[in-house]
Formats: sequence, C-alpha cells, structure tokens
Amino acid sequence: MRAEKAGRARVEIYAGVDELVISAGKVLFDQLRRKPGSVIGLATGSTFVPFYEYVSLHYREAGVSFRDAVTFNLDEYYPISGDSRDSYHSYMAEHLFSRVDMKAAGIHIPDGSAADPDAEAEAYEKAIKSSGGIDLQFLGLGRNGHIGFNEPGTPFTSRTHKTVLSESTLSANAPIFGDKSDMPGSALTMGIGTITDSRKIVLLAFGRQKSKAVRETLKGEITEEMPASCLRRHRDTVFMIDEEAAAELHE
Ligand code: GLP
Repeated sequence: MRAEKAGRARVEIYAGVDELVISAGKVLFDQLRRKPGSVIGLATGSTFVPFYEYVSLHYREAGVSFRDAVTFNLDEYYPISGDSRDSYHSYMAEHLFSRVDMKAAGIHIPDGSAADPDAEAEAYEKAIKSSGGIDLQFLGLGRNGHIGFNEPGTPFTSRTHKTVLSESTLSANAPIFGDKSDMPGSALTMGIGTITDSRKIVLLAFGRQKSKAVRETLKGEITEEMPASCLRRHRDTVFMIDEEAAAELHE
C-alpha cells in the first residue's frame, strides 16, 4: 500500500481488492473493539459485496461482536418494498446481517415504502442524532462522484432527503433490476451534511470504471458538482482505492 494526501484526507492505494478489504475490515474491527456500541454508517453496491464477505468471515477471529452496535444505512430506493429482492434491505440481510451477530433492534435503513418520504427522512435524521451520531461511516463512490444517492448538484449542507436519481446512476444500477424501466426513479438518502457530520469516514473504490470519478474527487475542484470532493475538507477521511481506480490520478 502507498499513501498520499488530498486536502485533509488520506488516500491509500492498494494493489488489489483483497488487500483493500482487509485494511477496511481492520478499521471496522478496531472501531468495534474500542467501542462495542459504535454507531456505524453502512453502504451498499457492488463495492461492498467483498467487504461484507470479508467482515462476516473474519469478525469472530478478530475478537469483535456486532451485538451492541447500531447501524445506519446510507440510502434506499424509493418507492420499493423492503421485501423486494432488489431493495437495500434485502442486500444488507443477504450480505451482512444474516451472517453476523447483529441484533435487529440496532439496524436502521430508510424505509422505501414509507407513505410520506419527507417525514421518513426527517425521522431518520432524528434517529441518527439521538443515537449520538455516526462514529464510522463507510462510503462507496458513484461513477459520477455521488456518495449515498447524493447526485451532482446536491448541497454540501443537505440532510436526509428524497432525491431523484440521475441518468448516470439509473444506467449504472439498472443491471441489478434487469431493466432500467423496472428501477425506482428516486431514493431516500442521508444528505452530504449528514455524512460529513460522521466522526470518521472510509470511502472504498476499486476498478477502472471508478478512475475518472476518483481523479475528479481527489484532484479536481471541491464542488457540489462532484459530491465526494467535499470529503477533502473532512477532518478524518480515508480513501481506500486500488491501483485501477488510481490509474488516472497522476496523469
Ligand atoms: C450506488 C449507491 C451508493 C454506492 C454507489 C456505488 O448507487 N447508492 O451508496 O456507493 O452507487 O455503487 P457500486 O459499488 O455498485 O459501484
């Protein structure tokens, strides 16, 4: 691994995904060891499949437990039923919650079937606050630089809200739904302000398809047009990326 800086953030470049998820897993395990009742912000998407695989296979040998942990997922499609196999509720059950000793009472994911999405967003924001705030937030990176479902142009001060998905995100995520026309056009997402209130942030990105977003996030202007660029101002953010995602960094 080699490391560099981007503003206040640290950038760690790994040879491959295996090394990267071991390192990200260590950050999570250390957090749970230090504070078993940690509030952890969780992400979804293809990036987090190998991460959750690693975590669920190794947490016991790392000597940690999820029993007292509290989790808040970043986002959920809207509208969608939690039972839908394409929901992030199903994703989390499959990839993490059914494989670790997490208690159902500690799990929070925005309700994509809420009748009033604005009230749901407000309640979600309040629940994060009353939990004491997020100790450690994991993030993926959209091909257009989105974090959570905060698409380009979302204010850095935004809180949890309902948002309309961009064309780029619809195309990137449509294969999961089989067809773009089956995909919900909106989502509930933590806002950028919600995310950057987290005490520590770890963003994971790997693969060539992320290299442009990585370059613009780390080397471009800090702008709401590139949502992840705000993380360069955050007091404790680590970007963990692989060589492929780093390919355009030094061009
Ligand atoms: C999705 C999610 C994000 C995720 C990102 C990257 O749309 N809303 O939370 O981090 O886009 O997804 P992937 O890991 O599949 O590339």
